[in-house]
Amino acid sequence: MENKNWWKDAVVYQIYPRSFKDSNHDGIGDLNGITEKLDYLKNLGVDILWLSPIYQSPNDDNGYDISDYRSIMTEFGTMEDFDRLLEQAHNRGMKLMMDLVVNHTSDEHHWFKESRKSKDNPFRDFYIWRDGDENGNPPNRWESCFKGSAWEWDETTEQYYLHSFSKKQPDLNWENPKVRDAVYDMMTWWCEKGIDGFRMDVISMISKYPGLPDGDELGNGYTGNTSFDGPRVNEFLREMNDRVLSKYKVVTVGECPGVDVASAKNYAGLDTKELNMIFQFETVEGSRLVPHSYGKWDSVAMTMPELRENFTKWQKGLEGSAWNSLFLDNHDQPRCVSRFGNDAPKYRVRSAKMLATMLHFLKGTPYIYEGEELGMMNAGFSRIEDYRDIESLNVYREMKDQGVEEEKILSFLKAVSRDNARTPMQWDDTEYAGFSDTMPWIRVPDNDKSINAAEEQEDTDSVFHYYRKLIHLRHTLPVMVDGVYDLILPDHPQIYGYTRTFGREKLLILLNYSKDQVKVPQEILDQIQSCQGRVLIHNYQEEMEEVMRPYEAIVYHFTED
Ligand code: GLC
Ligand code: CA
Repeated sequence: MENKNWWKDAVVYQIYPRSFKDSNHDGIGDLNGITEKLDYLKNLGVDILWLSPIYQSPNDDNGYDISDYRSIMTEFGTMEDFDRLLEQAHNRGMKLMMDLVVNHTSDEHHWFKESRKSKDNPFRDFYIWRDGDENGNPPNRWESCFKGSAWEWDETTEQYYLHSFSKKQPDLNWENPKVRDAVYDMMTWWCEKGIDGFRMDVISMISKYPGLPDGDELGNGYTGNTSFDGPRVNEFLREMNDRVLSKYKVVTVGECPGVDVASAKNYAGLDTKELNMIFQFETVEGSRLVPHSYGKWDSVAMTMPELRENFTKWQKGLEGSAWNSLFLDNHDQPRCVSRFGNDAPKYRVRSAKMLATMLHFLKGTPYIYEGEELGMMNAGFSRIEDYRDIESLNVYREMKDQGVEEEKILSFLKAVSRDNARTPMQWDDTEYAGFSDTMPWIRVPDNDKSINAAEEQEDTDSVFHYYRKLIHLRHTLPVMVDGVYDLILPDHPQIYGYTRTFGREKLLILLNYSKDQVKVPQEILDQIQSCQGRVLIHNYQEEMEEVMRPYEAIVYHFTED
């Protein structure tokens, strides 16, 4: 019988189509480019490919502003190209997960074009329209996630519409059952095509609080937008599950900013009939110990002890009741080796492997973002002209207006701009990194040419081969999937240690999360000695002795007799 929870021992690979592979010489990645690289992905061993949006879009936010859910973005190809990609992926035993962006559409979507025409248009209530306040100002103080007010004035009908993101991304009105019907129809259409799942964009934001109160009125910690984890979101997701998801063999992951452990159990509880898992954002939000004054822009990564505490909270919190998804970066985050590891030439490979070990041995479904398996690092752009991302450009403009020095703004972008993860996939060491034979839509970073798929596939000691091994282990060792997580050495300043236990099997994971030489505590050495552990994976060739070397990661496997 087919395993009902097939996605639990799966590894997901995220593709940002614009930056993955250009097949037709226009400098923009496309669907045929992805199809060309399926053998590479198969060789890596991943099970599910998640495609960031490929639908028709004016590209205000690189496809997260959809103008037609049932057709393919012209730059990416045609529906025939899509069908071929799906078929070819299936032929290789890989599944395809689509990005579902239904908190908002593009303002160029037919629904919105109708909606803005008149107050009595049948599509008016597909979106969220309000009068201004008594002075004609926006109805509340909500801010767009991309800066500025979340309200845009529309001359035609003299009302404001809500946009939690750019003004070209008006929010859908989920209170309207017709909106929900239209979304479920569209999802059914894709499911009937044979796709295998959905990653749901900012799905925790679809239910707005009645009356659209400001955050301080609600006391939820947000000063502006209160749309996170709203009152009806779980009801909507249960309805979606009932009407669509339950009828197909699909995997679902919800992008859930603002969701904590307790509410995660509603979204992704093993028996709540909503989603299979969610992305939580606490671990990528930045350190709470280091004060910062420009939001995410001058935040620094969580320290190891904070990360360890957070992972442990989620691992223990969801054990037996819900399922974690595991990620350190994606198309919205800086590259993980630059943010959490150390991308200096001396440490890059070692720390990339250490981070991968940490993540893949946690309980949950791991997500690999394109290029992470090569240890690709941040873009390193130092001129504003190199940036393309709407959020980065808006922030640059706003901070300039506020008088923040140019140099400072550029240093913020260099550290956390979303473009850090959106540079072309590095396939080889040619001029445009084998991504394209012409100038790509976004520059190839100037970093080390040796960070590329061709070389790493040759070198069995590469980050690529290390990921390959991790994925293979997950597919063959049940303890890696089902083992219960327990923290050891809870207060160690440099070593993150934990175990996974499943029946008679146990894994011991030791990570030196620093560039120091660190003595391994005697109790651990004794345990390794007495239990005759077998080394499963290790990021150094030479055996580990009493001292862990910089960024050393090692995993032991014990079996009780
Ligand atoms: C999500 C996406 C991000 C996008 C936003 C609006 O956070 O991951 O890329 O800009 O939603 O759709
Ligand atoms: Ca192209």
